[in-house]
Amino acid sequence: MEHFTIVLALLRAALKVPSPAVTGHAERLLAALRKGGETIQAEQLEKLLEGGSVAGRMQPSRVVLSRAALPGEPLTPSVRPPVDKETGGALADITLPDALTPMEAPVLNNALRGSVDALVEEWRHLDRLRAMGIRPPLNCLLFGAPGTGKTKLAQIVSREIGLPLVTARLDGLISSYLGTTARNISSLFAFANRYQCVLLLDEFDAIAKVRDDPHEVGEIKRVVNTLLQCLDQRSDLGITIAITNHEQLLDSAIWRRFDIRIAVPRPDLESRLEIVNRYVTPLEIALPERRFLAWLTEGLTGSEIETLANAIKRAAALNSSADFSALNALKVHAQLSSNHRHHPRWEQLLGPAEALAATLSRDRELAFSQEDLARFFGKDQSTISRWKRRYREGS
Ligand SMILES: Nc1ncnc2c1ncn2[C@@H]1O[C@H](COP(=O)(O)OP(=O)(O)O)[C@@H](O)[C@H]1O
Ligand SMILES: [Mg+2]
Repeated sequence: MEHFTIVLALLRAALKVPSPAVTGHAERLLAALRKGGETIQAEQLEKLLEGGSVAGRMQPSRVVLSRAALPGEPLTPSVRPPVDKETGGALADITLPDALTPMEAPVLNNALRGSVDALVEEWRHLDRLRAMGIRPPLNCLLFGAPGTGKTKLAQIVSREIGLPLVTARLDGLISSYLGTTARNISSLFAFANRYQCVLLLDEFDAIAKVRDDPHEVGEIKRVVNTLLQCLDQRSDLGITIAITNHEQLLDSAIWRRFDIRIAVPRPDLESRLEIVNRYVTPLEIALPERRFLAWLTEGLTGSEIETLANAIKRAAALNSSADFSALNALKVHAQLSSNHRHHPRWEQLLGPAEALAATLSRDRELAFSQEDLARFFGKDQSTISRWKRRYREGS
C-alpha cells in the first residue's frame, strides 16, 4: 500500500482520542491489508491497534474480534435495513456498536457468566480457530422465562464482540400472505450474510414453531423449512443469536441446529442482592433491608425486581425521610399488586411481624442478627427476642 507510513501516522494521532469509529476503520484497513497479502504493514497496524485498544475502548467491552475472519462487508450507518418487497416495511432494526456502549450488563450467576465469556472468547479468536480448521460455534440459543435479561444479554454480547446488531422485526417478518413470511426470512438472512453483524432473532418461537400444528400446516412447514435452510447456510458466514421464552414450542430440528444453547435462569440469592443493589440506587437503604429484599424476591425475574425497586423509590420520593420505611413501602406494594400474592414469602410479609421476624432469624443463608432484625422492624432487641419466643411458643 502506497503512503502507508503517512496513513499509520494519521491513525496513531486519531487513536489518541478513544473512538470506536476510528478503531473500526483501522480494523477494516487491517483486514484489507491481510487479504491483500501485505503482511508487514498488517503487523505494523496490528501493533498500533493493540496499543490503542487499551485507551480506546470502554470497559467492560472487549472488542478484539478479528474482522478478517468474518466474510462480508462492514455495516456502516448509511446501510438501510432489508424490507418486505410488497409492503416496504423494515424486516430488521440495525444498532451500531457505538449505540450499545452505555448499557450495563445484566447480573448473571458465575456459571452463566462463564458460558457467555467462553462464547465471546471463541468469537474473538475466530481466526485462530479457522487456522486450525475448526468451525467455531456461530449460533447460540438463549432460553428462559420472560424478564430474565436475555435480550439485554444478546445486546451486550454484540457489544463485547464489537459488531453491529441486526435485530429481526417480527411485525415486519410475519405476513398473512401465503409464502411472504418465508420470503422475508430469506431476505433477512441474505442481508445478514452480506454484512458483518450479529443477527438477533428475538422471540424466535414466533417463527420456529413446531411443524405439526394442525391449524397452519402448510405455511408453518414452509416457514420452518426456510428457516432451517437459512440457518444451515449461515452457519459459516456470521453470528446468530436466537432467543425464546418458550423453548418447548420450538421445532426439534431447529433446536438441534444451535451449537450452543444457554438456559438463562431466574436469579439466585446472590444475584438478586446484586440486582436489588443496582436498582434501588440512588436510594440509600440499609444492608439488612436490601438482603431482606433479596430474600423476598425468590422466584422473581430481574425485570420484576427492577419494577419492585422502582416502586420503593417512588414511595421514598413521596415520603419524608423520617417517615419512610422500606418494609412499609413493600407492604403497600404487595397490597396494591396481586402479582406475587400467592408466594409464601410475600404472604409472610403481609402476615404478623412476629412470624416474619422468627422466619428471618432462622434463615441460614441470610443469617440475620438480632440487631439487624431490631433495626429492620424498628423495634428494640428485647422486643425481637420476645417475638421470637412468643412465635416459637405459639407455633
Ligand atoms: N439479571 C438481570 N440483571 C439486571 N437487570 C435485569 C436482569 N434481568 C432483567 N433485567 C432488567 O429487566 C429488563 C428486561 O429484561 P429483558 O432483557 O428484556 O428480558 P428478556 O429478554 O429475558 O425477556 C432489562 O432491560 C433489565 O433492566
Ligand atoms: Mg426479550
